[in-house]
Amino acid sequence: MTRILITGGAGYVGSVSAEAFLTAGHDVVVLDDLTTGHRAAVPAGASLHAGTYTDTEALARLLDAERIEAILHCAARSLVGESIRDPAKYYRDNVAGGVALLEAVRTTGVQRLVFSSTAAVYGVPDATPIPEDAPLRPINPYGETKRTFEGALAWYGRAYGLRSVSLRYFNVAGATDTLGEAHDPETHLIPNILLAAEGRLDLTIFGDDYPTPDGTCLRDYIHVADLADAHLRAIESTALDDARTDEPLICNLGNGGGFSIREVVTAAEAAVGKPIPFTVGPRRAGDPPILVARSARAAEILGWRPARPTLEEMVGSAWTWRRSHPDGYPS
Ligand code: UFG
Repeated sequence: MTRILITGGAGYVGSVSAEAFLTAGHDVVVLDDLTTGHRAAVPAGASLHAGTYTDTEALARLLDAERIEAILHCAARSLVGESIRDPAKYYRDNVAGGVALLEAVRTTGVQRLVFSSTAAVYGVPDATPIPEDAPLRPINPYGETKRTFEGALAWYGRAYGLRSVSLRYFNVAGATDTLGEAHDPETHLIPNILLAAEGRLDLTIFGDDYPTPDGTCLRDYIHVADLADAHLRAIESTALDDARTDEPLICNLGNGGGFSIREVVTAAEAAVGKPIPFTVGPRRAGDPPILVARSARAAEILGWRPARPTLEEMVGSAWTWRRSHPDGYPS
């Protein structure tokens, strides 16, 4: 049993991870400022502190008071398009705020941290599937700020003994029985497709002239419950006597296969049981044509393999969750 702080634990990925850590018998403390997270998404059994991770002194007090042993750092700004329009928000929260968190970690002596990083650190890759040692050339501030924090983690590790795992998520999708994706505004593909199925949104496919088989972007979708399982394994690997994190560990998390936007729409039509209308619009700035992970390292080192790799499971569970939460979480 480990006492774990999850920053962003009221958000989509953080709440599902909190649920998985509790089920595995760990103690969970959630820190979330509730700007994009939802109080109702924090699982029963986790204690919620409404506040920011970017205040070093307040965070240090919390780490001490709650006797935190390990941190899962999920809180961040995470929208590609927004990052291009408003990079200041990304540098402030993901970089300056991230370093403020690391300072609290350093001064309180917490030695274990798992970081939610992203495929966006790669930019437009030279080859796919993308291995972890591919060049990092982000094409948007979101990816750049995540890359910067990964670098800080590595140097804090070498100098101060912080043991870390950076997990580069590809496209997270799906829901558990109780927790799902609810953003406002929603920008992600699968929730937008489902909103269109309900007649609540006019779906636009952003570009069908990419160099891909059907012209739409290919993404490597991964079920949020599989991601939570990777978080559990990653936290375990940061144990002080575990040689896997003697050096900072970086792993991609994907299925190793890509699906096009049109394929996702088709899978959603099967889940929903009716055609879903869409129009094709111009490309969205900052979108690489293809992002597919090489996930062999997570398998080899963490023993992790996605258990729910099909679009049917991801889109189907997202649809089931939407039907039970038509308006997302209560505010
Ligand atoms: N898309 C549409 N219409 C929409 C929404 C999205 O066509 O209404 C397209 C996008 O242009 C993109 C694809 O669907 O080609 C997936 O877009 P998402 O916004 O769902 O996801 P992104 O690929 O932009 O980004 C996600 C995460 C990032 C992460 C990235 C890594 O939000 O944090 O995956 O693959 F970095």
